Amino acid sequence: MESKKEPLFEGVTAKELNLKNRLVMAPMTRLRAHADGKASTAMAQYYQQRATAGLIITEATMVSPLSHGYMFCPGIYAPEHASAWRNVTESVHAAGGLIFLQIWHSGRVAHPSLLDGLSPVAPSALAGTGTLHGPSGKVSLPVPEELSLAQIAEIIREFANAAELAKLAGFDGVEIHGAFGYLIDQFLQDVSNKRNDAYGGDIAKRTRFLEEVVAAVCAVFPGRTGIKLSPANTFYGMGDSDPMSLFKYVCQRLNQYDLAYVHFMEPNESDLASGAVIKNVVRTFRADCNHLVIANGGFDKAKASEYIESGLADLISFGRPFISNPNLPYMLELGLPLAEASPTVFYGQGPESVLGYTDFSVVN
Ligand code: PHB
Repeated sequence: MESKKEPLFEGVTAKELNLKNRLVMAPMTRLRAHADGKASTAMAQYYQQRATAGLIITEATMVSPLSHGYMFCPGIYAPEHASAWRNVTESVHAAGGLIFLQIWHSGRVAHPSLLDGLSPVAPSALAGTGTLHGPSGKVSLPVPEELSLAQIAEIIREFANAAELAKLAGFDGVEIHGAFGYLIDQFLQDVSNKRNDAYGGDIAKRTRFLEEVVAAVCAVFPGRTGIKLSPANTFYGMGDSDPMSLFKYVCQRLNQYDLAYVHFMEPNESDLASGAVIKNVVRTFRADCNHLVIANGGFDKAKASEYIESGLADLISFGRPFISNPNLPYMLELGLPLAEASPTVFYGQGPESVLGYTDFSVVN
């Protein structure tokens, strides 16, 4: 007699997408693209090896040359980017997988040495905290230039253009990166947004940029657009004076758009140690969110099952375990011991750095 599958490993429908299980591969920056932002052959193999995930969400991908936080991250603003990504989507689809492109503007998390000498842009001229790896070593986040209204309108068009190119590349949908201290998050939180025009001030005004990006991208990919939020993340100096009210409002506003899901990042130990106000993001905001919810951050099989079976989340995304266990759904379902990846291989240096990338054994 065939035993019944646990809910975590059962299929689920997200709008018009049929996921074969509730395990999502989380977006992870791996830095194996070409220097011009074109996806590499190694990337196609890497994502294909992980096609047993219910849904793959790619690494953060630049919507503009000014969104260049890291060397060797991929882009999606030129037609050549779409052609290169097509190899990735075809490889994943050939293996029966579904794949969304995470579209990203890094805002003040960038440096002139990565931007042909230009300054990074942000809602306000306030530097984030932390460092980046530039072409000649470690650099501190600089003071960015405050965006004009015309530049804001241009970035919203860049997000829409990225979604168009993602469609051309054959992606099943896109995820808007609204998290982790990058541009959309910089608009949302009042530590980084001191504007006093239509895009800054009260919560509704700080949420406006996010809403305009969501509306523009949903027009391209209705029902196939997700968004990632990190209300408790403190990295790059993020924080808000009232994160509970801010993200409650954000969730409620998002209910009116034709989204596939909302993807919430839980705080990690360092966020909690640096005083994150919201200790449990999904438990806090689930009730405000009418969309499917993906929970991300620090899950194992037991906790994932608990979240799915109690209805707290509809899907669970795994990051690091997918690096070293390409067929993670199979490993978890059978309770097989998981391989660990060394943090030294998390970030590569371009398309040749395949060590610790495509060489983990695929168990099946
Ligand atoms: C994320 O989606 O969680 C994410 C993506 C890229 C980063 C950091 C976080 O650099």
